[in-house]
Amino acid sequence: MARRKYVVGNWKMNGLSDAVTEAQAIFAAADEHPAVDVAICPPFTLIGAMAAALPEAAIGGQDCHAAASGAYTGSVAAAMLVDAGATLVIVGHSERREGCGEGDAEVKAKAEAALAAGLNVILCVGEPRAVRESGGAIDYVLAQVRESLPVEFDPARLAIAYEPIWAIGTGLVPTVDDVAAMHGAIRAALAERIGAGAEVMRLLYGGSVNGENAAELLGAGDVDGALVGGASLTAAKFIPIVAAGAGL
Ligand code: 13P
Repeated sequence: MARRKYVVGNWKMNGLSDAVTEAQAIFAAADEHPAVDVAICPPFTLIGAMAAALPEAAIGGQDCHAAASGAYTGSVAAAMLVDAGATLVIVGHSERREGCGEGDAEVKAKAEAALAAGLNVILCVGEPRAVRESGGAIDYVLAQVRESLPVEFDPARLAIAYEPIWAIGTGLVPTVDDVAAMHGAIRAALAERIGAGAEVMRLLYGGSVNGENAAELLGAGDVDGALVGGASLTAAKFIPIVAAGAGL
């Protein structure tokens, strides 16, 4: 079945209020590629201003707390993201799994809270370098998928991003065959779990995607889009990736 390509920028901890102008440039240029769904996930502090400036655009958070409210200093609830104008959220990014000690159960709880609040979800998985080198990457990632997926979900509202940790911000990328093999394995595991709905789910690749390698990576089997870090911060770098998605 034909799934629309989905290209998402994860701005991580980058951007002050003047970056709203760059987001406007990105979405204006992305409008030239209507076959591709484009979203940007800026830091929490920019969501409100960006959503106000771009009411039609898909703006997302980079994380949310699993609880609806409470004594969680520094955290943001899913409903708060919605209130600020977000329509999606990333959960389980490796920089949070590794840097903040988030495990699969917590990621699953966050995904469930986000869906319940009305947000679409991008759930991240990916193996460390040692696991890739030992040949265990597929088993490792499938276990993450199994343990982090919500119990029930609308497959049209949840995408999975495969981001090998060793490829993030390093300029290293897996071979296209390795990406296709991983995405195929994820799709098969999803089919086992939810049946035909697996064909609706979009599987994104993330890790050192740029304008030069995007066409090849986005063209790999079972790759429905990209989750882009560094190359999503400017229209000049991000739009060639969107255009590559449109050309497929
Ligand atoms: P880079 O594109 O900078 O490698 O980051 C990938 C990523 O972590 C997106 O979530």
